[in-house]
Amino acid sequence: MIGILDLASDVKANSAKYSDALKSKSIGLIFQKPSNRTRVSFEIGMFQLGGYTIYLGSSEIGMGGRESVKDVACVLSRYLNGIVARTYKHEVLEELAKYASIPIINGLSDRAHPCQALGDVFTIRERFGKFEGLKLAYIGDGNNVMNSLILAALKLGISVDVATPKAYGPDDKITKLASAAARSSGARISISNDPVRAAERADVLYTDVWVSMGQEKEAAKRIKAFSKFQLNDGIMKKAKSGCVVMHCLPAHRGQEITNSVMDSKHSIVYDQAENRMHVQKAVLLKLLA
Ligand code: CP
Ligand code: NVA
Repeated sequence: MIGILDLASDVKANSAKYSDALKSKSIGLIFQKPSNRTRVSFEIGMFQLGGYTIYLGSSEIGMGGRESVKDVACVLSRYLNGIVARTYKHEVLEELAKYASIPIINGLSDRAHPCQALGDVFTIRERFGKFEGLKLAYIGDGNNVMNSLILAALKLGISVDVATPKAYGPDDKITKLASAAARSSGARISISNDPVRAAERADVLYTDVWVSMGQEKEAAKRIKAFSKFQLNDGIMKKAKSGCVVMHCLPAHRGQEITNSVMDSKHSIVYDQAENRMHVQKAVLLKLLA
């Protein structure tokens, strides 16, 4: 992971050096869900590397409906050098990867959002100049973004406090992986239902939406369950003065985070969004150059 982050630092500082690095290479973006950051940062990132991108939205190829996942994987492997896929079910990504002969990059599934996590740890290093000794509080829903973020952070030596409502915490598989990552780096992981305690000791406060794409039918139930897990002025009063606030975006302002916190001096959410592009360019270079 450090290799990708270091390459991303160079890509960010010396973009022109890589302007032909992926000349005549092409990727496809198979997106079953909407996207702003992931789509635009991959498309522009690939353009800046001299390559070509084709966007294949849900109405284009009908993966799994019009055509089987296997056939999509096998056919696109004959045209493209790589695929970024955003799916509902993580298993669809795994099936694509099973049958494709080209790299498959997870652009978000119901289980994971690894490109987001890479951009996030890159942003944390950019801000603090280190990982070891830092504490990250993830407050909110134990979702795809949390899964990838806490594993990346723990592997790099950042200690993590997860605070979610009961029944919305990390599942057993993620908890086991997180404990193993913490053991190997010497970081600490705690999982609780106490957002204030998590916030008090954090250098980084992180949240994400309470209702992820595909969960719209559960919105009312979730908004009620998460009401005490909002990043607002009250919780910021308990936090350290030098802490930063992060959110993968899109944010539901007024739900998981207030305008006052999103727009405060602590917020580095737009740095995060920008850095998605730099780290993804590094990923593309590692996989396709
Ligand atoms: N953070 C993120 O992945 O944003 P999009 O859903 O807009 O791509
Ligand atoms: N957890 C959110 C992240 C969006 C980038 C979702 O899956 O909708």
